[in-house]
Amino acid sequence: MNATVAANESKATSATIDRIELTQPDDWHLHLRDGEHLPAVLPFTVRQFARAIVMPNLRPPVTTTAMAVAYRERILAALPAGSRFDPLMTLYLTDRTTAAEIEAAVASGVVKAVKYYPAGATTNSDSGVTHVDRTRPALEAMERLGLPLLVHGEVTDQSVDLFDRELAFIERTLAPLVRDMPGLRVVMEHITTRDAVAFVESCGPNVAATLTPHHLLMNRNAIFVGGIRPHYYCLPVLKREVHRQALMDAAVSGNPKFFLGTDSAPHARHTKEADCGCAGCFNAHAALELYAEAFDRADALHRFEAFASFHGPDYYRLPRNTGKVVLVRERWDAPAEYPYGGDTLVPLRAGEPLQWRMLPAA
Ligand code: NCD
Ligand code: ZN
Ligand code: ZN
Repeated sequence: MNATVAANESKATSATIDRIELTQPDDWHLHLRDGEHLPAVLPFTVRQFARAIVMPNLRPPVTTTAMAVAYRERILAALPAGSRFDPLMTLYLTDRTTAAEIEAAVASGVVKAVKYYPAGATTNSDSGVTHVDRTRPALEAMERLGLPLLVHGEVTDQSVDLFDRELAFIERTLAPLVRDMPGLRVVMEHITTRDAVAFVESCGPNVAATLTPHHLLMNRNAIFVGGIRPHYYCLPVLKREVHRQALMDAAVSGNPKFFLGTDSAPHARHTKEADCGCAGCFNAHAALELYAEAFDRADALHRFEAFASFHGPDYYRLPRNTGKVVLVRERWDAPAEYPYGGDTLVPLRAGEPLQWRMLPAA
């Protein structure tokens, strides 16, 4: 069998499909890091994606348009020779971000969104927002100018159970915000619960969400198989199977509110295998393969292209890509590690088999 699924083709049983051709996708949530780490991870993304929304949680964070422009130049300078890739930049929202900064960001044409990290919620979020009210001038400018707000949706209240922090953020912060500012465009990033799916579905077209491959493929048991597995620790943390199932249902639903965002978040091996290990999973080495596996398992490969290649650009009001990529059903083992500047990086599925392989560009 060598059936091919193309855009909008009617459903074929996924198990009989062993080649997928799709419009080149984009990654709508990506960490590229900086310095010696940037050239170590960038080629993986460039191989698969035409564009990516690049997260601003560097040290120091990318809080101004000038910093975003400079970071974009460093990314372009690190591109493999002959490759084409369009980094879509983001600003890191703080309590002090001004309306003028938002206006400059939009005028630059380089900044495509603004990232909301609750202070202390995740990696390099110390300069994040302490209370949403403090960001009002920036948010009003964003609502007026149509600049999307990308949200790490977890409360930092330590009295809230770690597994309930996404729901608490929706109830305490996001639902009131969306109610007060219906014109604000909001992407809830890397959603992990059925509550987040239900919330996004209940909102108007301004509210969307990204889904990672690891949250589609795994539940929280993965963190504890035979011992503690630091490479499966990310934030928001993996949840129960019912939640994974709800995320998968959203991904394959065809609803344009849900689209691809890998949250590939590299950390050096020694910073994850530590007594206080960092949060983040590196998946850029096999991002499309992992998503294809998730859609295949759900018998929904016919819904893969819209999720990976159409819903994101449509939400961001950017043209869809015109190039194509091809994936074939073929087993291969992910490497145990990759070089990461002077360190090493352990990828998702390290040393274990993947079921799909992307072919090199023709
Ligand atoms: C991300 C990182 O390492 O930058 N970590 C993660 O666990 N997802 C930050 C983030 O996206 O929250
Ligand atoms: Zn996050
Ligand atoms: Zn992230």
